[in-house]
Amino acid sequence: MKIIFASQNQGKVKEIKEIFKSTPFEIVSLRDLGNNINIEESGNTFYENAFIKAKAVFEIYNEPVFSDDSGLVVEQLDGRPGVISARYAGEYCSYNDNNIKVIKELENFAEPHKAKFVSTAVYYDGDQVIESVGELHGIIIKEQRGSNGFGYDPIFIPNGYLKTIGELDFELKNKISHRSISFNKMKELLSKKF
Ligand code: IMP
Repeated sequence: MKIIFASQNQGKVKEIKEIFKSTPFEIVSLRDLGNNINIEESGNTFYENAFIKAKAVFEIYNEPVFSDDSGLVVEQLDGRPGVISARYAGEYCSYNDNNIKVIKELENFAEPHKAKFVSTAVYYDGDQVIESVGELHGIIIKEQRGSNGFGYDPIFIPNGYLKTIGELDFELKNKISHRSISFNKMKELLSKKF
């Protein structure tokens, strides 16, 4: 069964394809379809944004769609960057700009800087909506380490580890990540249904 993954983020596409390999579900990315649509994430929650993306892509192709919305939630920053994780330092900012902004905002707070990555996945086929959520808990450090992964990976150390996700292997990240949790849950839910 073909499912379109509604994301332009190639880091996520790589993670998702890995999770769904050897399953009856064939994940097709927007890039695979030659589609560079950019959908505005106007929701106030991860779920709202994931659903907005899934619905917009379903309306183009009329085929089952999957999407996720994810982000970093930092306890001492009252949950920020949250749903604006991608553009925390401004509309066209880089991952580096975002990391520097978070580090700066934490300057006057005592360690540990508890945080979590959250991923809300949504499957939508015009009829059914299925949701699953995954979280990865850890701490933010005040320097960037490692160049693996993307986004806030260089400043996030998952609980139980000594290295940032930027320093950990791709395979390991894919086992423990918030997206791995939400998408593995989704894989189970879909396997029961289809
Ligand atoms: P979106 O889910 O595509 O809207 O992007 C959310 C933003 O959250 C990304 O641009 C990253 O800044 C951040 N983010 C989401 N997942 C991860 C992750 O696995 N590692 C690091 N940053 C992430």
